[in-house]
Amino acid sequence: MSTPLRTGILGCGGIANRHAQVLSGLPDIRLVAFCDQEASRAKEFALKYTGGHAACYNDYREMLDRSALDLLYICLPPFAHGDEVADAARRGIHVFIEKPIALESNHAWHMVAAAEAAGIKSQVGFMYRFGEAVCTLKQAITEGTAGPAALMVATYYCNALHAPWWREKSKSGGQTVEQIIHLFDLARYLLGEPRTVYARQANLFHRDVPGYTVEDVSCTTITFASGALASISATNNAIPGRWLARFDAVTRNLTAFFSDINRAVLVQTDKPGNPEVTIDSGRDVFREEALDLIRAIREDRPTRTPLREGALSLDLVLAAQHSALEQREVTLTGPVAPVSGVAAR
Ligand SMILES: NC(=O)c1ccc[n+]([C@@H]2O[C@H](COP(=O)([O-])OP(=O)(O)OC[C@H]3O[C@@H](n4cnc5c(N)ncnc54)[C@H](O)[C@@H]3O)[C@@H](O)[C@H]2O)c1
Repeated sequence: MSTPLRTGILGCGGIANRHAQVLSGLPDIRLVAFCDQEASRAKEFALKYTGGHAACYNDYREMLDRSALDLLYICLPPFAHGDEVADAARRGIHVFIEKPIALESNHAWHMVAAAEAAGIKSQVGFMYRFGEAVCTLKQAITEGTAGPAALMVATYYCNALHAPWWREKSKSGGQTVEQIIHLFDLARYLLGEPRTVYARQANLFHRDVPGYTVEDVSCTTITFASGALASISATNNAIPGRWLARFDAVTRNLTAFFSDINRAVLVQTDKPGNPEVTIDSGRDVFREEALDLIRAIREDRPTRTPLREGALSLDLVLAAQHSALEQREVTLTGPVAPVSGVAAR
């Protein structure tokens, strides 16, 4: 077996815990360093996942200089991204980075340029792409049995105050940019590249919550280069404590009803009697995205979701923000300008 990849985690918060659980169980990974601006968090991770053996830092450049990493997991909140991708790439360190990879298009495309120039492997945390039901539909589209994809209709319902940074538009980008981006990325994955976006967003239920400047209801319509259409609606005022991302997809020969990324009923509409396939899986998509990245590093092949995909999906949600703010349909022609202001109230 090859030597395990020396891996460090930057940002030891909520989602980093989920990744560390997965990584600490993979024989191909050795967790050797943790970095957080709060020293106690890095120490907690080192203790929990390495019995205290891993090195702890609060300056990520020091971690990159001293810990001889092969792989860096970047789990920072959206506003905290800086030069960490470029700094890792320059040192030949592969990266995993949580979505959204940045809050501004130019920043995201700088990351893409740095990673591609250095030839490192990158994976963005769009784990919806790894759901078993999603993979089944994607395979049917790729192989041609599904016929061209025509429509996706998706909803995202939750009801939580989230972290203080999440509620601030300048720090998270808003619910669409920080959270619903998963569904926007999935729409790109299944339907191809978008051409126009039309969105409406409002804060209806959290106006009295101090510092809550993000939208809590939104509707977006996307048109794709192929002519396909998607509609994505979301709210942060649904059932408390539940996170529900559901969607339907229609292709020429299939109608698919997803209760989540691992569970769906696919109905074949081109066959007599319309036979159905039911997928009901407990697949750990965080593990799958890690394994895909490890295979890409070992076998020198592309990952499923390199940084370029992170920049393209960011551009799509930023275009939706523009559309909501300016109350007009936005055409995607390249990197999207910074969004200023807050969603319409
Ligand atoms: N894929 C998913 O399902 C999923 C789920 C949750 C969060 N996320 C994404 O993961 C990212 C992190 O979210 P979270 O919920 O874990 O946030 P969090 O607030 O729980 O954790 C962030 C950690 O980063 C640290 N940090 C902040 N700035 C830093 C800096 N400059 N240097 C070092 N450490 C710093 C904080 O101290 C904190 O420990 C966000 O982009 C979020 O959108 C993805």
